[in-house]
Amino acid sequence: MSEPDLSVELCGVRLRNPLALAAGILGTSAELVARVARSGAGMVTTKSCGPSPREGHPNPTVLDWGHGLINAVGLANPGVEEEVKIIAQARELLEPLGVPLAASIFAETVDGFGEVARKIAEAEPDFIELNISCPNVSDEFGRPFACDAGDAARITATVKEITSIPIIVKLSPNVTDISAIAASVEQAGADAIAAINTLGPGMVIDIHSGQPILANKVGGVSGPAIRPIAVRCVYDIYRTVEIPIIGIGGVTEGRDALEMIMAGATAVGIGSAVRYQGLGVFETILDEMRAFMVERGHANLSRLRRIAR
Ligand SMILES: Cc1cc2nc3c(=O)[nH]c(=O)nc-3n(C[C@H](O)[C@H](O)[C@H](O)COP(=O)(O)O)c2cc1C
Repeated sequence: MSEPDLSVELCGVRLRNPLALAAGILGTSAELVARVARSGAGMVTTKSCGPSPREGHPNPTVLDWGHGLINAVGLANPGVEEEVKIIAQARELLEPLGVPLAASIFAETVDGFGEVARKIAEAEPDFIELNISCPNVSDEFGRPFACDAGDAARITATVKEITSIPIIVKLSPNVTDISAIAASVEQAGADAIAAINTLGPGMVIDIHSGQPILANKVGGVSGPAIRPIAVRCVYDIYRTVEIPIIGIGGVTEGRDALEMIMAGATAVGIGSAVRYQGLGVFETILDEMRAFMVERGHANLSRLRRIAR
């Protein structure tokens, strides 16, 4: 059998393979995202950027607790004015590689999302990803926007109105019914859904000091421990919406990426695994996917999408 075709189409944009660098991991400079692209990623997402520069939480902000990571980076970012330059530079480096870029944004208010999106759109990213699911940003009731279908829809509609760039809305697993939130953002005009952001918040205590290890005390949990939850979220969302899904959460090996696709994902985000395994993780996962597809005689990924019943 000839080489299986791993390319996929996301909102009319061709990805040479379905693996996307997830937001917040290495996506902080043009050179870093280009390195990730050269290492095999089919698409890259930049670290979430907000209206103004933000230092984030004090260290320690990220901890490997044995079965995954826990982080409270606190959305450290250079602010949208600087980010526009980074994205414009990144696009120049990525274009010859044929790797599209999603610019991840956040804001404190619904209108704030519109303002950040308007500025980011000037840099012409291939996608704008709305991080409405960060544990550090919440509505007037203290909930992340992604925990309320109305908030999630209002943000989506606001951004949709100001740009024709495809919008990916990133959802939180920390809700009773993720598919209801997915349905509401689809109706508000989302072009794709990314699921999931981190689970939690969680806490890890150092038993010698008796104190939480993260300076912020609590943080979002990611990595292998959350994968079954992420797979279930993708499975539930696929049943409810027509728009494509980027499945994210704990993907570390080829089998994990295939599992996401079998649950209904079009693309697959890789976050914590890059920290565990370095940039070689993309080629390793792709090799493992190819080997499975050759063994089973699958010529492309559409044959595998949502085969799980
Ligand atoms: C250190 C760290 C920083 C992150 N920063 C962001 C971020 O800026 N924006 C965002 O949408 N998600 C962020 N995430 C969440 C990831 O993009 C991803 O949704 C989550 O970690 C689950 O995927 P994983 O298990 O492959 O890491 C971050 C995750 C980690 C571990």
